[in-house]
Amino acid sequence: MRLFLLLFLFFISFVNGSLVSRSSRVKRQTSVGSDASTDGNGDSVMTDASTQHFKNPDGSLGMNVTANGNSTGTGSTNIETSAGGNVGDTSVDNVANVMSVGDTSKSYSDIFAAVDGEKITSNVMQQGRVAGQGATLSIVNGGSSMQNLNGEKKNGFSYGNAGGTGSINTEAEVQTQQAMSWDQLMARIMAVAASTGLGSAQSNLDMGTGSGDKNITISGLVSGLNSNQGTVNTLVKGNGIINGTDQQIVGTMYGMSSGKGNSTLVGASSIVSNQSDSLGEIQAFGNSNAFSSGNTSVNLMSNTNIEGELSWELEISKEVELMRIQKPRRPIIAQSDGQSISHDGKNSSLSFSDNGLVGGWRNSSFGGYANGVGAASGKDSNVTGQGFVEMDGDSMNGNSSMQAHGTGTGPILADTRAVLNVEKDGVQRNGTVNGIASADGNNTNVNSLSMISNINGFETVNNYQKVSSSGAGSASVSASSWTIFKRKKRFSVLNDILNK
Ligand SMILES: *[C@@H]1O[C@H](CO)[C@@H](O)[C@H](O)[C@H]1NC(C)=O
Ligand SMILES: *[C@@H]1O[C@H](CO)[C@@H](O)[C@H](O)[C@H]1NC(C)=O
Ligand SMILES: *[C@@H]1O[C@H](CO)[C@@H](O)[C@H](O)[C@H]1NC(C)=O
Ligand SMILES: *[C@@H]1O[C@H](CO)[C@@H](O)[C@H](O)[C@H]1NC(C)=O
Ligand SMILES: *[C@@H]1O[C@H](CO)[C@@H](O)[C@H](O)[C@H]1NC(C)=O
Ligand SMILES: *[C@@H]1O[C@H](CO)[C@@H](O)[C@H](O)[C@H]1NC(C)=O
Ligand SMILES: *[C@@H]1O[C@H](CO)[C@@H](O)[C@H](O)[C@H]1NC(C)=O
Ligand SMILES: *[C@@H]1O[C@H](CO)[C@@H](O)[C@H](O)[C@H]1NC(C)=O
Ligand SMILES: *[C@@H]1O[C@H](CO)[C@@H](O)[C@H](O)[C@H]1NC(C)=O
Ligand SMILES: *[C@@H]1O[C@H](CO)[C@@H](O)[C@H](O)[C@H]1NC(C)=O
Ligand SMILES: *[C@@H]1O[C@H](CO)[C@@H](O)[C@H](O)[C@H]1NC(C)=O
Ligand SMILES: *[C@@H]1O[C@H](CO)[C@@H](O)[C@H](O)[C@H]1NC(C)=O
Repeated sequence: MRLFLLLFLFFISFVNGSLVSRSSRVKRQTSVGSDASTDGNGDSVMTDASTQHFKNPDGSLGMNVTANGNSTGTGSTNIETSAGGNVGDTSVDNVANVMSVGDTSKSYSDIFAAVDGEKITSNVMQQGRVAGQGATLSIVNGGSSMQNLNGEKKNGFSYGNAGGTGSINTEAEVQTQQAMSWDQLMARIMAVAASTGLGSAQSNLDMGTGSGDKNITISGLVSGLNSNQGTVNTLVKGNGIINGTDQQIVGTMYGMSSGKGNSTLVGASSIVSNQSDSLGEIQAFGNSNAFSSGNTSVNLMSNTNIEGELSWELEISKEVELMRIQKPRRPIIAQSDGQSISHDGKNSSLSFSDNGLVGGWRNSSFGGYANGVGAASGKDSNVTGQGFVEMDGDSMNGNSSMQAHGTGTGPILADTRAVLNVEKDGVQRNGTVNGIASADGNNTNVNSLSMISNINGFETVNNYQKVSSSGAGSASVSASSWTIFKRKKRFSVLNDILNK
């Protein structure tokens, strides 16, 4: 029976081939790609990232990405995040970098971005906070860029620095958020810096945000001196928002110098918005005998960056510990199901491949191919995959799914790929879904899923990568995905004749 079937199939493929050589072809391809990564340094670092691709019920494609990091510590902390992707020619990319330097320092950033059909959105949040004695500084820097179907571009930016010097106490915080879609912008900036010192203190901030012709900037500086080591307090605050066509910004400066001897307070502030409802004020209190306001620039400090000092070693094996693939074969179903598990640091991997080809059923021919490949590393890892192709009488159905997990310490990776090709009467629909999730840190977690199915002509895709990592010293994660759909239509000879 099996022998008969094989002979039959070869015959059909041959006939198909000869028809194809004389037919015209239409080929369409859509690719979806995305990348997200987060790196961080500090005494305690948490990072995570995810990418997901999906197909909506109306057939449009979508992707979303997240990248998030949070670092706290003594001295310097930093988080660097980037996340973006594309659906065909429509794309979005974002970066957000935060660094803080002080006795107690925190850096945080978070990116979400999505392309859903033709709709593009992004949301970038950044936060730096420091407290301590002496000099402190928080810096944030982020941006977004978008491109629509027609190749038009839009960019957004947000930046901020806040810091100060004071021998008794200094505190600074800066926050920005920039939420954009193709035709809307909501951006917020907030910073506060306060310092107290004996003899001198200084607080400063400088920040801005915007997109296209809409932007706001705020900067402020208060610096105070007392010649007899009296107490000096300085404070600057700024707050701004762009919400659609509304813009509001407020800046406040405050200084106080007390003690015997001569005191000087200098304040400079600039707030710029391209609309009028902005408000700025400068206040100075105390027994200062000199006060002036004008343009002042300060160079605060050189930023020391503590690099991650930890190096990781990972035991990895050459072999798959367990691999089980079943292939029950019936005339019109080919399917596989397997799992690979490792608990001792060896890599897990799995692959399957299913082929089916049926000809002459109601004068139609059907073909299908499902393939999956997956691998994972880590102390504990596992890979699970399923696939089938099936001819149900009217259509060719298929599914290909591969999922890989890994947890452990040090650099680990999960990598999956799923391919599905179904064909009816020479019309092919091919999809390839691929994802890689990698992470480095003390406590890492990687998860990669690639899935594609086509049931009665309804195609479903899920390409999901999720990574998280935490650690002392440094932690980093990245997730990338790409999905390609191809549709090749071969008009039959009959169609060619009818169209003439
Ligand atoms: C990304 O898209 C998927 C599919 O629509 C959805 O389930 C998921 O919640 C989205 N993720 C985020 C962070 O919005
Ligand atoms: C960052 O981590 C710290 C410590 O775990 C936590 O208290 C804080 O809420 C986190 N910040 C954000 C914005 O998630
Ligand atoms: C801010 O907007 C003005 C126009 O309103 C533009 O000339 C300027 O280049 C913008 N600045 C930035 C940094 O984008
Ligand atoms: C932005 O404006 C919209 C519409 O006026 C309003 O609903 C929303 O609350 C505003 N958002 C912020 C953060 O102010
Ligand atoms: C205060 O300033 C005056 C004028 O510059 C100067 O003569 C005096 O020595 C200063 N006093 C102190 C305590 O520095
Ligand atoms: C201010 O921004 C608006 C858009 O909000 C823009 O149309 C206008 O040209 C800008 N004005 C100036 C003076 O840059
Ligand atoms: C401030 O700086 C601007 C440009 O650098 C200059 O035109 C202006 O004269 C300065 N103002 C003062 C008070 O120094
Ligand atoms: C295990 O997987 C990791 C990550 O893909 C790879 O770098 C390493 O070479 C693999 N080890 C072996 C023995 O194949
Ligand atoms: C198959 O094609 C032949 C010749 O064109 C035709 O006679 C027959 O009715 C068709 N069978 C079906 C099930 O469509
Ligand atoms: C596969 O690994 C994940 C993450 O380590 C774990 O949650 C899950 O239970 C594992 N599955 C199996 C069957 O071991
Ligand atoms: C679809 O996939 C099959 C199997 O991998 C391949 O032979 C064929 O060339 C692919 N077709 C297209 C249009 O990419
Ligand atoms: C991370 O690993 C380092 C080196 O093994 C260790 O010193 C540190 O305590 C670990 N931190 C956590 C949070 O597990």
